[in-house]
Amino acid sequence: MRVTFTDIKPEIGSLVHVDKAHLLDDEVIEQVRQALETRGVLVFPQIDVSDEEQLAFTDRLGTRTNFTKKAPGSDVSAADVYKITLDKKINTEPDYVLGTFFWHIDGLLMDIPLPKATVLSARRLSDEGGSTEFANLYAAYEHLSDQEKRELEGLRVIHTIEAAVRPVFGSTPPGRAERYREMAPPMEHPLVWTHADGRKSLLLGTHADGVVGQASPHGRSLLWRLNQWAAQPAFTYKHDWQVGDLVIWDNEGLMHRVVPYTDEGRVMHRTSIGGTMKPGHPATEAAMAKMLEPVY
Ligand SMILES: [Fe+2]
Repeated sequence: MRVTFTDIKPEIGSLVHVDKAHLLDDEVIEQVRQALETRGVLVFPQIDVSDEEQLAFTDRLGTRTNFTKKAPGSDVSAADVYKITLDKKINTEPDYVLGTFFWHIDGLLMDIPLPKATVLSARRLSDEGGSTEFANLYAAYEHLSDQEKRELEGLRVIHTIEAAVRPVFGSTPPGRAERYREMAPPMEHPLVWTHADGRKSLLLGTHADGVVGQASPHGRSLLWRLNQWAAQPAFTYKHDWQVGDLVIWDNEGLMHRVVPYTDEGRVMHRTSIGGTMKPGHPATEAAMAKMLEPVY
C-alpha cells in the first residue's frame, strides 16, 4: 500500500501517510483526489515539501491558479507560492492576513471560477495561536432539517470585502475602499450551491454580507446563524501545525480560519488549484441597494 488514509472525525478530515518519493505517483494522486471530495481536509504530517515539490503536487492534482498575484507576499522568485505571514519584510499589508482570522472561502470575492482546493505547508510556526480550523459546508447543509433546506433553497447572498475586513478595521480605511473594490467586487452567490456532481453545500463566511431581497438585519441574522451552525464541533476540524505539515482542503465545500497569532515568525506557503465552476456573479446595484435599505 503506497498510501493510507485514517479518518480524523466522522464528518471531516483524514490523515494521509505516504512516502514522499511516491507523492506524485498516479495511484496516490487518484486516491488523494477522491479522498479530498469525501473527507474535505487531508493532512500529510511532517512531509516537509520544498516549494518545487509543493508546486509539483499542486500541478498533479489540477490546474495551478494564483488569485493573489498582486497581494503583498507574492514572491516573484517562487511563482505561484504565496507566503502567509505577518513578517513586514515579506508582507507590507498585514490586513489581508488578519482577515484570515475569520471564516472565509478562498477566492469567493473574485469574479473567477472558485479555486477548487488550497494546499498549505507550515514552514515556521508561531509560539501561540496559528492553528487552522476547517468547517465542512456539505455536512452543514446535509444536517439541516428538510424544512430548513426548503427555506434556504433559492436564496442569494451578497459577499463583500467590506464585510470581510469589518472585524479587522471596523470600517474600511480611507483610500483602500477603491482598491478593494477593484480587487474584489461585491459578488452574488447562491446560499445553497449545487455542485456539478449534484452534491449541495452552503456558501458562507464572514464576507457573507446580506441576502438579496432582504433588509440587512434580517439577512445578516440568518447568515450569522448559519455561520454558527456550520462552525459547530461536529462539522469542524482544528489542525495544530507541526513544521513540515502539508494540508490540502476542498475549498469549494469548506470554509476555514486561523486561530489568531501575533508572531511575525510564522510563515505558511500556499498554492492553489483552480476550479472550473463559478457559483455566482458580480452583484447588481439593485440587489445591493435592497440589502442596504433601512427597516424600522
Ligand atoms: Fe484562506
